[in-house]
Amino acid sequence: MRPFTPRTIIEPFKVRSVEPIRFTTFPEREAALKSAGYNPFQLHAVDVLIDLLTDSGTGAMSSRQWAGMIASDESYAGATSFYKFEAAVKDITGFRHVIPTHQGRAAEHILFATAVQPGHVIPSNTHFDTTRANIEHCQGEARDLVIAEGRQPRTIHPFKGNMDLDRLRATIVEVGPARIPMVMMTVTNNSGGGQPVSMANIRAASAIAHEYGLPFIIDACRFAENSWFIKTREAEYADSTPIEIVREMFSYADGCTMSAKKDGMANIGGFLALNDDALAMRCRNLLILTEGFPTYGGLAGYDLEAIAQGLYEALDPHYLQYRIRSVAYLGDKLVAAGVPIVQPTGGHAIYIDAREALPHLPVSQYPAWALNNAFYLMGGVRGVEIGSVMFGQQPDGSEKPAAMELVRLAFPRRSYTQSHVDYLAEVILATYAERERLPGYRITWQAPSLRHFTARLEPVG
Ligand code: F0G
Repeated sequence: MRPFTPRTIIEPFKVRSVEPIRFTTFPEREAALKSAGYNPFQLHAVDVLIDLLTDSGTGAMSSRQWAGMIASDESYAGATSFYKFEAAVKDITGFRHVIPTHQGRAAEHILFATAVQPGHVIPSNTHFDTTRANIEHCQGEARDLVIAEGRQPRTIHPFKGNMDLDRLRATIVEVGPARIPMVMMTVTNNSGGGQPVSMANIRAASAIAHEYGLPFIIDACRFAENSWFIKTREAEYADSTPIEIVREMFSYADGCTMSAKKDGMANIGGFLALNDDALAMRCRNLLILTEGFPTYGGLAGYDLEAIAQGLYEALDPHYLQYRIRSVAYLGDKLVAAGVPIVQPTGGHAIYIDAREALPHLPVSQYPAWALNNAFYLMGGVRGVEIGSVMFGQQPDGSEKPAAMELVRLAFPRRSYTQSHVDYLAEVILATYAERERLPGYRITWQAPSLRHFTARLEPVG
């Protein structure tokens, strides 16, 4: 027999435990959305058929993760589960100090509360919302320096998450290193479309930071997905394994913040990892105050077990190939049908450009919100608006349009199959065919900040 190279990329697992999803009728969805104040965050999950609100903490765990959870050590101090978790994080990242937290934003809070003073500036390719909010909470400024291509939805570029290195250097010179406690890099760049950062860019950004004596910190939530893009798009890494790639990537950094709800493959958890002994000691002191003792940091022993195993599973080449391909598979179908999406597709989600899809709706009627609600009504699919409802509200109460009006459809890890994705494509295309008839929305009630979570809206007209 001649060797066979399959073209079909299959789910690299078989299903051993299932969770039913509930089908609803159009009138049921209309009623559910209305009573949710036309806000998908307020829907009951049981009324959602395919839930793409987030890829955070929503994935399926493996039999090995569950085995670890059952055999966990729940000791308050020095639990075996902690040492397993610490060993895994050290093995993958190489950092000296590993500080567990209940999720990513807790790691951010502890790092920034310890290192950021009023007036400080923290450059990054793009800060995620919680990172930005935690920096602003310490009266620092979060500055986004992604390359220009990273803000152009349809420009094809292999690494749209890259930092603009000239602007990084100019920022350090203009602000002065004394007012910059660290330089950050988010991999992949979630707010910019789940776009990857190249190893060359990570290496160069780290060199610039170090030239000025500044620590270089990675927001590592989707570190494994980023490694797959480096392997497949950066020629010199074609023969490297994902774990080799991430070890090199972390070797350029002085620490990382991590949400284990993403590439930790867990339902909850996170960590802060650092090389600096003095900074780590100060962070641990704050950890004890807000999260817990340093060998559990707000997590149960079984959570630490799930993460210790999950970090390695996220680096399995078969998993990563399937993961990145399932997102691209939906992207290919949408592009072929003319639906405007952010291209190329990123690691964890599809981003649909609603400003282009619904040109009849002014930004003041929230086109991405309108499109996301239409997906729910059409087929019980829930995504999230990343547009002017999320970002338009200014601290003084005024309204400013967001840079882009996107609907993000984020894929929970290992949860949906190819036929779910085929169904999704059908729902999106059926909705797109109706696009000229979709109504805009107006806000009838909003909280003074982070309004998108709780706002109530109504269709216009
Ligand atoms: N950094 C990035 C890049 C993220 O995407 C997230 C979370 C965090 C930090 C914070 O982590 O949720 O564990 O506190 N992103 C989720 C999302 C919420 O839907 O994109 P967390």
